[in-house]
Amino acid sequence: MKKNIAVLAGDGIGPEVVEQALKVIRAVEKKFNHEFSYTPALVGAIAIEKTGNPYPDETHQICMKSDAVLFGAIGDPKYDNDPKAKVRPEQGLLAMRKKLGLYGNVRPVTTFPSLIHKSPLRRELVEGADFIMIRELTGGIYYGEIRGRTEDGTKAFDTNVYSKEEISRVTHMAFEYAMKRRKKLTAVDKANVLATSRLWRETIQETAVEYPEVEVEFLLVDNAAMQIIQCPTKFDVIVTENMFGDILSDEASVITGSMGLLPSASIGTYTSVYEPIHGSYPQGAGKNIANPLATVLSAAMMFESSLGMPDAGKIIRDVVTRSINEGIVTIDIAETGKAYSTSDVGDWLAKNI
Ligand code: IPM
Ligand code: MG
Repeated sequence: MKKNIAVLAGDGIGPEVVEQALKVIRAVEKKFNHEFSYTPALVGAIAIEKTGNPYPDETHQICMKSDAVLFGAIGDPKYDNDPKAKVRPEQGLLAMRKKLGLYGNVRPVTTFPSLIHKSPLRRELVEGADFIMIRELTGGIYYGEIRGRTEDGTKAFDTNVYSKEEISRVTHMAFEYAMKRRKKLTAVDKANVLATSRLWRETIQETAVEYPEVEVEFLLVDNAAMQIIQCPTKFDVIVTENMFGDILSDEASVITGSMGLLPSASIGTYTSVYEPIHGSYPQGAGKNIANPLATVLSAAMMFESSLGMPDAGKIIRDVVTRSINEGIVTIDIAETGKAYSTSDVGDWLAKNI
């Protein structure tokens, strides 16, 4: 099969981890006699440096024309420490999500039995945890147009806005995932305080009628934060708004033992984007120590969804599991003194596809 893949490596460790995923993708391409084209494009701080724009139009056009986007990370401490910076790398990410219509961010949280001892939670709490977090990604307080400062600079405001349509489409996505899994949906909101959350609850209740087999539970976000730690195995699919999802998905990601293992897919109207959830990890950039497995697993998700090749996804997952079981892993999850470099892990995976 012929497929076009846009490659947006971005900042920090992005290029290193994406390079390893590309080794694996190329190995799959060869094994199955596919014909893939890879088009690199700029995003993030590197795009600001080269073009002044963190998501240049050229990059957007490349994404629109591709079957899938493989994404590394964005962010640079230079901007984090300068709250007055006019352009920020994160604006590139938000622009990309909006322009590609990526309204659903899907983050599977799964545990690897041989890594459970790395979890900050006790083994018996986290063993068997397996859920999917679906975060609304193009609305809410991240995009509320009414925002800014009063003239004297002493007050600032952001607005949280959701339409029924925005809630409904991501809710349908969540119900569809639940139908393919254990048929349980947890909707997280703050309906005891926020008007937007009450619209979320109302819309989800209406949508639930279309999915009578799915058991729906509503949880307030503070309670959800607690239960993800106390009882992670009770969840199957979680759906929530943009800001709550940002916070809870980081919380959820660490319970498995390593953030360096968790992939994600952002899905919506146009081309889907596949990216590791760990971010740009600037302290690790250029050192050949970053864990490439989250990006490689993101590539597996890409094969399973956008490229329509579930067998290839399975092969990638199997080889990742083998590398973990055999200890061919980077320092974040290796046993003391037995760490492999980022590129060695990538080479091993590609060779074993
Ligand atoms: C994420 C990140 C982004 C977000 C930042 C980098 C803007 O934290 O993808 O979760 O808040 O959405
Ligand atoms: Mg985040």
